[in-house]
Amino acid sequence: MSLFHHKKRPSTDSIENGVKLVTAVEPKNVVAEQFRTVRTNIEFSSIDKEIKTVLFTSSDVSEGKSTVSANVAVTWAQQGKKVLFIDADLRRPTLHATFVLPNTQGLSTILANNVDFHSIANADVIDNLTVITSGPIPPNPAELLNSQRMKHFVEAAKSEYDVVVFDVPPLLEVTDTQVLSAHVDGVILVVRQGLAQRADVTRSKELLTMVHANLLGYVLNDVAPKNGYGYGYGYGYGYGYEQ
Ligand SMILES: Nc1ncnc2c1ncn2[C@@H]1O[C@H](COP(=O)(O)OP(=O)(O)OP(=O)(O)O)[C@@H](O)[C@H]1O
Ligand SMILES: [Mg+2]
Repeated sequence: MSLFHHKKRPSTDSIENGVKLVTAVEPKNVVAEQFRTVRTNIEFSSIDKEIKTVLFTSSDVSEGKSTVSANVAVTWAQQGKKVLFIDADLRRPTLHATFVLPNTQGLSTILANNVDFHSIANADVIDNLTVITSGPIPPNPAELLNSQRMKHFVEAAKSEYDVVVFDVPPLLEVTDTQVLSAHVDGVILVVRQGLAQRADVTRSKELLTMVHANLLGYVLNDVAPKNGYGYGYGYGYGYGYEQ
C-alpha cells in the first residue's frame, strides 16, 4: 500500500469530446430535470440582487464544472433567457468540443488582441444560447482574466444578455478563478462526491471569502440515486459542507 494518497488523474474525456448535454438531447430525462432544479435554486438563492453573471467552479479537476455549467446554461436558454456561455477555462477548455465549434478565436483573442466580442461569439448554437469558446491557450491566463479588458468585456456582456455563465478552472489549481470570482454576481461550487476532499472544499470557501465572492451554493455532483433506480448520476443542490 502506498504511503501517500494519490489524487485521481484528471479525466481528459471532456477536453477531447466535450461534455454530455442531456438537457439539450433528452430534456425529459430525470437528469435534465435535476439541472432545471439547480437553475431554479440559483434563481432563488439571491432574493435582493438579480444574478446576471454566474461562475461554476470546484476545488479540484474533473468534479463536473463543465458538465454542470453547460447543462444549466442550456436550461436557462430553454426557459427563454438570452444566455452567453463563456469558456474561461483557458487551461483545460471544453466548450468548443461540447458544441462542436472552431476554437481558433475566442476569449483569449478578445483579451489579448482587443477584438470586439460580437465578431467572435457563436450566436444561437442552441436557441437563445450564444457561446464564446476559450480561443488558443495563452501563456498567461491569470493575467488576461485579471485585466481591465476582461472587466469591460464582462460589463458589456452583462448589458446585452440576461445571464452570463462562466466555466473556469478549479480554485485550488490556479489563481484564475479566484480573480474572476470577485467580478461576478454569484459563484457555484461543484462538489463531486467521492472525489472532493472536505479540507479542499473548506479551502475553496476560504479563497472565495478572501475576495468577497458571493458563494450562492453547492452542486453536489455524482450523488448516488436515492431509490437505486436510474443513472447513478444525480445532482443535489444545497448549502451543505458547512463546518
Ligand atoms: N455525475 C456524473 N456522473 C458520471 N460522469 C460524470 C458526472 N459528472 C461529470 N462526469 C464526467 O466526468 C468527467 C469530468 O467532467 P467535467 O469535464 O464536467 O469536469 P470539470 O470539473 O469541468 O473538469 P476540468 O477540471 O478538466 O475542467 C467527464 O468525463 C464527465 O462526463
Ligand atoms: Mg472543465
